Amino acid sequence: IDNWSKEVFISLQILVKPSVDYCIQFWSPDQSDTDLLERVQRNATRLIPVGNVFCTRSGLQTFRAFHRCAPCLSGDALFVHRDTEKNNPTTVFDFTPENLKRVQAILSIYPEGHKSAAVIPMLDLAQRQHGWLPISAMHKVADMLDMPRMRVYEVATFYTMFNRSPVGKYHVQVCTTTPCMLRGAEELLDCVKQKLGIKEGETTKDGLFTLSVVECLGACVNAPMMQINDNYYEDLTLKDAEEILSDLKAGKKPKAGPRNGRFASEPLGGLTSLTEPPKGPGFGVRPDL
Ligand code: FES
Repeated sequence: IDNWSKEVFISLQILVKPSVDYCIQFWSPDQSDTDLLERVQRNATRLIPVGNVFCTRSGLQTFRAFHRCAPCLSGDALFVHRDTEKNNPTTVFDFTPENLKRVQAILSIYPEGHKSAAVIPMLDLAQRQHGWLPISAMHKVADMLDMPRMRVYEVATFYTMFNRSPVGKYHVQVCTTTPCMLRGAEELLDCVKQKLGIKEGETTKDGLFTLSVVECLGACVNAPMMQINDNYYEDLTLKDAEEILSDLKAGKKPKAGPRNGRFASEPLGGLTSLTEPPKGPGFGVRPDL
């Protein structure tokens, strides 16, 4: 709209209100810029001549900035592949004899004509074997499943679980999607960055930790949380996160799961429903059945 800092961004919403046709909410890192609201209003009215425009400035926490979302920042930052010395179509990859047996077991689950559904478990297996997923492993999977390579690329670039570049021994993935964000994921991310001395998408010099920012990992009820390799660490405080990372660095195995005393995702204050013993089979069934 104007020559504003690139950091300013705007979300446009159409409101179901007779008096307002467009509501422009915007966020700016420079909260001291007092005439910004006026400039937005002025420019918005110029650019949207028809209809009533209402502008409002939102607090920092109201938005999850686009430039912090996973596709921009995670370890596999780009959705395109660029050949490198370590990752190109000639990179040697083949399944080990042991993993070939696993491949057969995976393929046997899917009926003829639906083998391509095995693409995710096979890519996962390739990644577990190699440590990350080179493009040659994708080609191997495409050949084995008789799929166009492009279809495999689509899967491998969509899911942040696939690392298309090497990662450290511990791949720390911090979820910053809405429920986690509301429970302090951004502070958690800052804390992890400070503790490890790296930014999103980077690996520590000792090769121990890689940090990624990811979308919802399905543990929202235990927010905020992070995944490290195959383990979830949940209900985290900043102190918990620091402890976990220190333990890993010291070669210890921190206990996975919730850190606030919960067993899983039950209410923290105790059960509020289903508190009686289960009734057992046949409960509520007609006596003559
Ligand atoms: S939002 Fe973080 S796990 Fe769902």
